[in-house]
Amino acid sequence: MRQPVRDPGVARPLRAGGETAWAPDSWHSHPAEQEPEWPDPAELARALDELGAFPPLVFAGETRRLADSLGRVADRRAFVLQAGDCAESFSEINADAIRDKLKVILQMAVVLTYGTGVPVVKIGRIAGQFAKPRSSPTEPCGDGEIPSFRGHIVHDDAPNLVARRANPSRMIEAYRLSAATLNLVRTFTKGGFAALGQVHAWNQEFVATSHEGRRYEETAEAIDRALHFLGACGVNLASDTPTQQVDLFTSHEALLLDYEQSLTQRDQLTGDYYDGSAHMLWLGDRTRRLDGAHLEFLRGVHNPVGVKLGPTTSPEEAVAICEALNPARVPGRLTLITRLGVAAVTRLLPPLVRAVTAAGHPVVWQCDPMHGNTFVSDNGRKTRRFDDVLGEIKGFFAVHRQEGTWPGGVHVELTGDAVTECLGGAEDILEEHLSLHYTTTCDPRLNGRQALDLAFRVAELLAD
Ligand code: PEP
Ligand code: CO
Repeated sequence: MRQPVRDPGVARPLRAGGETAWAPDSWHSHPAEQEPEWPDPAELARALDELGAFPPLVFAGETRRLADSLGRVADRRAFVLQAGDCAESFSEINADAIRDKLKVILQMAVVLTYGTGVPVVKIGRIAGQFAKPRSSPTEPCGDGEIPSFRGHIVHDDAPNLVARRANPSRMIEAYRLSAATLNLVRTFTKGGFAALGQVHAWNQEFVATSHEGRRYEETAEAIDRALHFLGACGVNLASDTPTQQVDLFTSHEALLLDYEQSLTQRDQLTGDYYDGSAHMLWLGDRTRRLDGAHLEFLRGVHNPVGVKLGPTTSPEEAVAICEALNPARVPGRLTLITRLGVAAVTRLLPPLVRAVTAAGHPVVWQCDPMHGNTFVSDNGRKTRRFDDVLGEIKGFFAVHRQEGTWPGGVHVELTGDAVTECLGGAEDILEEHLSLHYTTTCDPRLNGRQALDLAFRVAELLAD
């Protein structure tokens, strides 16, 4: 038994014409890769029934506001910063961890905005980034194999068969933890913590004493002076929403289609379908195939969507993805997130940019410099080099400058903690340091200092 679609009417199509009908469950007739093997269909149906009765986590009006902001990015008038965990962990949903992650994202956004004068659209990989695609369905464990870890929305990460059993009630828990996270994000971003007058307070202790932290303090002091100046001129900043509040939109990979379908509803105002699990959703590099269930699902929801493009993407495929997801060519509807690797970006990106531009698609181009640069260190830790991350971003900017297109944003994995997961950066984390504080449940993340350092470098590239 599947979750019944609440409104059986066919959606207003996003396709320009001649398309097959879309409905929240039409993905079922397409091949769905990376879906967990739920052991008990009745257990799954019960969880989906319960989920389907919950309210949306985000509202269509907010989602449309993000779509408008991304439209400005596509139109070269803004830049997008998308950042957060590779995989959120059920055991790290607490006020300190969420606040520290927000601090880093706010710091990066301030550095980018102040350094370039370009508005920054802020999107977290947060409040729902719980599902992971895997290259292999199993991983070695002792003498045998166990199912690969697919994120806390599916099962526990402990390396044993019992923990790795897919458990549908975890989708309910993921919903509840997303709601709790979002509640805190809204409180922090709308309740004074994100006011520009607080710029100093976002500098965490372990960052503040570093070179990047001191550089940040200079920016914060300049902002303070500007605010004092405006106050002295009689501007009432207390009643000025843009300096008192921040919009931080939520996003995650749309991987578990049962979960996404359950939270999809028709918006009463427009009659369009929106996935209420997050403002923005993206397709991973492993689930972007044209005839696949994931693309089918995303083509019908009116949220802004992203698609990761790895090194195997051909220019024809990129254009076909644009046609499928944004046939009406709405600026901001589609973000192409390239993750090509530092060594290949200047070779592989130009043909993609040329083909998409020639086809008249007004996409947001975003660089994910993380996923094409992962490797396993000699001591067995998955890691990335800060210099490779920066190198791919530099290549991305160079290509877009050369092609006359807008380098619209970056997409990074980070945490507010002082982790030692990525190599290099100003504090020069070496391979032998990786085990000191390596806590990610999936990919290695930039720590607060590395993230801030990166923001200064990106601001310089953007201001060039
Ligand atoms: C991710 O963003 O965590 C991810 C798995 O990315 P990709 O699909 O690009 O590999
Ligand atoms: Co990742």
